[in-house]
Amino acid sequence: MFDKLLKVAGIFSEAFRDAVLFLRFNSYSPFVDPSRRAFYKILIEAHTIEKGLSLPNPKPLFGKDKIRFVMNALSRYDIRHSPIPAHMSLGALDAYVNFHAKAGLSDPLLDEISGYLKAWEAKLPRPWKGGTRDYSFLGQPLNNLQQLIASRSSIRTMRSTPQHPDRILEAIALAQLAPSQCNRQSSRVHAYQDPALIQQLLALQGGSRGFAETVGNLFVVSSEICAWGGPGQRNQAYVDGALFAMCLMFACRSMGWGACPLNLAIDHKTEAAIRRTGGIPAGERLIMMIAFGEPVAPDTKVAFSPRRPAAEIATLHA
Ligand SMILES: Cc1cc2nc3c(=O)[nH]c(=O)nc-3n(C[C@H](O)[C@H](O)[C@H](O)COP(=O)(O)O)c2cc1C
Repeated sequence: MFDKLLKVAGIFSEAFRDAVLFLRFNSYSPFVDPSRRAFYKILIEAHTIEKGLSLPNPKPLFGKDKIRFVMNALSRYDIRHSPIPAHMSLGALDAYVNFHAKAGLSDPLLDEISGYLKAWEAKLPRPWKGGTRDYSFLGQPLNNLQQLIASRSSIRTMRSTPQHPDRILEAIALAQLAPSQCNRQSSRVHAYQDPALIQQLLALQGGSRGFAETVGNLFVVSSEICAWGGPGQRNQAYVDGALFAMCLMFACRSMGWGACPLNLAIDHKTEAAIRRTGGIPAGERLIMMIAFGEPVAPDTKVAFSPRRPAAEIATLHA
């Protein structure tokens, strides 16, 4: 009995320490190095531009506020911290200008961006790793794991045709090969094909604007909380759930489908609303959604989403 009480107390005390740690180091914290915070902020905002350009029908002059934010933030950013935010921003701004030029549209903002890019060319010469890139479902053999990993990308142009349940189960069975702690396999996956229900779920999610209406197949990945107990395991549902979700995305790629992970960075109220809407039991923690389906065409455009050089994120402890 005493052991159990200690565990309960531990859960509260760990939750408190989680909160303190998060407050101390989160992206708004004044105690974090400003370059480090700016790095993430610019990446996130530049991504909204590259993502906007990878949608089925980008809106002319979309995201004016984001564009201004990125230009201002990048001007203040010290690229010695990492040049990636500059690559991603400049590439996205360049692609934005080119997209409008191709569509024959003009606007003072586009001239302003062009001038901004010219000024940056001296500091960081082209080619910039950013904007969009061409992606093909064909011509990429998936004979080994490296090729499969390298050929996955978030796809935001997909057909709404429902996939056959057998094929969906085949993909899920592949994803089940993900490792899990003590092989407890707490991950769950809910698959939806009813167009109205999918739209309700995506409206609660919020990150698929611009392509939600094309989604005809949707996974919600969750994890059963009752697989976990004690303060030390408080985050393990997310660890196992995320590993499962990653394998599910690779499985989708291996089936020839496009897939786009969709965040569930939400509060309890929204999580409960998604559970209610999707008929998901209360004892499951929601990990993420994955929109998937046949690609519209074998060739498409995807957000460039450049990766940092490995040495930038690695610490080799010799
Ligand atoms: C947990 C998670 C949540 C994501 N949420 C969204 C989302 O809500 N909407 C979206 O369009 N993309 C979303 N993405 C996709 C990322 O933008 C994408 O993975 C990133 O830019 C890297 O590009 P890549 O997947 O093409 O390699 C999410 C990715 C992850 C891993």
